[in-house]
This record gives sequence, C-alpha cells and structure tokens, in this order.
Amino acid sequence: MPSTELSLDAPQLLRQLRELGAIGQRPGDEGRTRIALSDDDRAGRDQLVRWMHDLELDVRIDQIGNVLGILHPDRGGLPQRPLMIGSHIDTVRNAGALDGCYGVLAGLAVARAYRQAGVSPTRGIVVAAFTNEEGVRFQPDMMGSLVYAGGMCVQAAHDTVDGDGERLGDELARIGYAGDMVPGSLVPHEYLELHIEQGPLLEARDRQIGIVETLQGISWQQVTIHGVANHAGTTPTRLRHDAGYAAAACIAFLREQVVGAEPETTLATTGTLRLEPNVINVIPSKATFTVDLRDPDERRLRMAESRFADFLVRLAEREGVRIKVDSLARFEPVVFDAGLAARIETAASRRGLSHMRMTSGAGHDAQMIARIAPSAMIFVPSRGGISHNPREHTDDQQLVHGAQVLLDVVQACMAST
Ligand code: GLV
Ligand code: MN
Ligand code: MN
Repeated sequence: MPSTELSLDAPQLLRQLRELGAIGQRPGDEGRTRIALSDDDRAGRDQLVRWMHDLELDVRIDQIGNVLGILHPDRGGLPQRPLMIGSHIDTVRNAGALDGCYGVLAGLAVARAYRQAGVSPTRGIVVAAFTNEEGVRFQPDMMGSLVYAGGMCVQAAHDTVDGDGERLGDELARIGYAGDMVPGSLVPHEYLELHIEQGPLLEARDRQIGIVETLQGISWQQVTIHGVANHAGTTPTRLRHDAGYAAAACIAFLREQVVGAEPETTLATTGTLRLEPNVINVIPSKATFTVDLRDPDERRLRMAESRFADFLVRLAEREGVRIKVDSLARFEPVVFDAGLAARIETAASRRGLSHMRMTSGAGHDAQMIARIAPSAMIFVPSRGGISHNPREHTDDQQLVHGAQVLLDVVQACMAST
C-alpha cells in the first residue's frame, strides 16, 4: 500500500551502496573482498553501525555478531512482534557491491523514510546484518541467521575453525563484534529480504520485480582423497594412486550426472581444489575439494548426494585411494510465506512494475529466518545474471524500484497489524 507520507531517499541509498562497496577494495581492484570476520568485514560493520547511529537506531550486537538496528515504535522498550528486514554485508572474494548490502541498506532506507517523515512505525522495525552469510571462511554459510533461528548453538558456531585453524569466536572478539545479546531474543513477526537476483531469469523475462516463493536446497561437502606421491616420470599409470586424477574424475562425474538429466534442475560446483604436494613432477598424494550441490526438490538433492557417495566408493576401490567426506552445510528447500508474497505482488502491481514469481537459486538469510517467522524475498534483476563477480550490476532505477516495493510492503504490514 503506497503511502503519501513516507518517501524513499533514493540518492542516499545509492550513495551508501557505493560507499560500502568501496570498503575492502584495494587500489586497482575491480571488486571488493570483505570475508566474514576479517579486518575488512570489521570496517564494513563499523560503517554500517555509524549509519545506524545517524538514524538514531538502537544498535545491538548479538553473541554471533549479528548487527541489529532497531527503530522503536511509539511505545518504547524492546519492540514486541517487530518487523525484521535483513541480509548480510560480508562478501565472497573479489565480489560485486550489491550482494547482501542492498538488502541491509534498503532496510536503512526504510528506517530513514520514517525518520524523515517524523513518524514512528506502529511496531518496531529491526534492520539486521547477519554474520557470515557467504560461508567462504567458516562453514556453514548463513551462519548468523542460522544461529539466530536456533538451528546452531552459539558455542558450536564460535568453535568453528577456518582453513588456518583460526576459531570463529576468537575472530569475532578480535574485530570487536562479540556482542552480548542472545541471538533470537527479538522474534520477528515477519521477515523481509530484498536482494539482487544473482541469476538471469528476471532479465530474460523482462520483469522488474521477482516475488520469491521458494529457495532451493543446498548441500556442501568437503572431499579429501589420499593417494600416494610418486615420481611423474618413472611410475607406470597402472601403478599410480593419483589423488589429483581421482579429484578430476569426481568433478567430471558430477557434471555428467547433472547435464541432460530430466529435469535438469540439479546444479553441481567444485569451487575449491587443492593438490599436495602441488609439484609439477610429483603424482599428487592428496586432493581436497568442495562440492556444492543444489536442487529445489529435496528428493532429487538426496539422490544426487547418494549417487555421488556411491561413485566415491567405486572410485576408491578402482584407484586404490582413501576418500573422506565431511558435510559442511546442508539446508533443505524452503517455501516462503504466501501472504507476504501476495503483499509483494500487490505492491509491485500498484507501482506499475512488471513482476513474476520465482525460485531463488542462491542461499539467503531468509532461508534460515523462515524457521521462526513468516518470511519473503523481493528480487530485482541482475545484468547478465552475473554475481559473485565484480561485474555484478543492477541499474540504479531497478534498485530504487525494489527498495520502493520493500517500503510499500513494510507499510502494508504495519497497517494490517
Ligand atoms: C550464497 O551466496 C550462496 O548461495 O552460496
Ligand atoms: Mn547474498
Ligand atoms: Mn553471495
């Protein structure tokens, strides 16, 4: 329901996106890198907190480092049944400026609209930036929102270690974001997340707004293959236990499984691969790599996992290698709240914006918060469907449209309860 009272300060939203996007960007870099709990993540958080204070939000940090900016209603005190708007500001390596940041800064734009109009919301509004959504350094991904939703205890999250053996809890304290608020102590009455699509569908269908109804399941595994190092020039092929070859066979198997399947919905990615000793004339003794499997259907995702597990058994036997698999993250597909989706659709229609209902291919904090509150997501187009890449781009006008729809939906939620 568009309001005559509240208006979006679009230039300020776009300015803040550019400013936050400059943090973690080195001279000559095309992208920026603010890996969770790094010094650059701290710099981004510090900037966000300054902006929250500028809006006189009540800033709370919880025990997993989630940053919450609360716009209190008239009644004062900790808000009951608040509306939460959230996403994340950590990034992958060499990232675009919009992934996550857009949703958090659009949340600030909603709070700013209330402040500039001099009115208070009828219920509290919480703008949340969740810790470690990307899961690059510490797994699982979406960790801050998972802990917030009660899906992982604080201690287990703190005890997570990165590839160098650094403990997450220590890193959180080091960057000054080990707060004392108990995660989840403010239970949202509803949760909204605005995000760039990060895929090609809206652009291909020439739609301005995506109403996200579902989010696909995600399975992350780390596979370690132990072979035998030996001389590249003297070891006959049939006598090798080549961990590098076995890793390559896994990657090829995963691709062959998903291409041409009916329906072709399962996605498989190996995004990290390390060989040891990593020397040109030594047969690799060890390969460590990750497998990211996704499918909107839980049954198909399980089938993909189990086909891969069977393949590993056969491969170990055939190549005489030892294979260990660790699960890093496993999230089932999620169905978002139908009532909120309808509100997004109404808001987009009233603004004259073309729209479509869709599934999210990327993981999002909304996927976790949906466990404790009705949740929904709004997407705007990504040029060329590119994301997790410095070339990630959405036109300013499309970013403003998405934030306007968010503001309208917030007002509709406030008016109805
Ligand atoms: C998060 O960006 C993910 O989908 O991996
Ligand atoms: Mn994101
Ligand atoms: Mn991302």
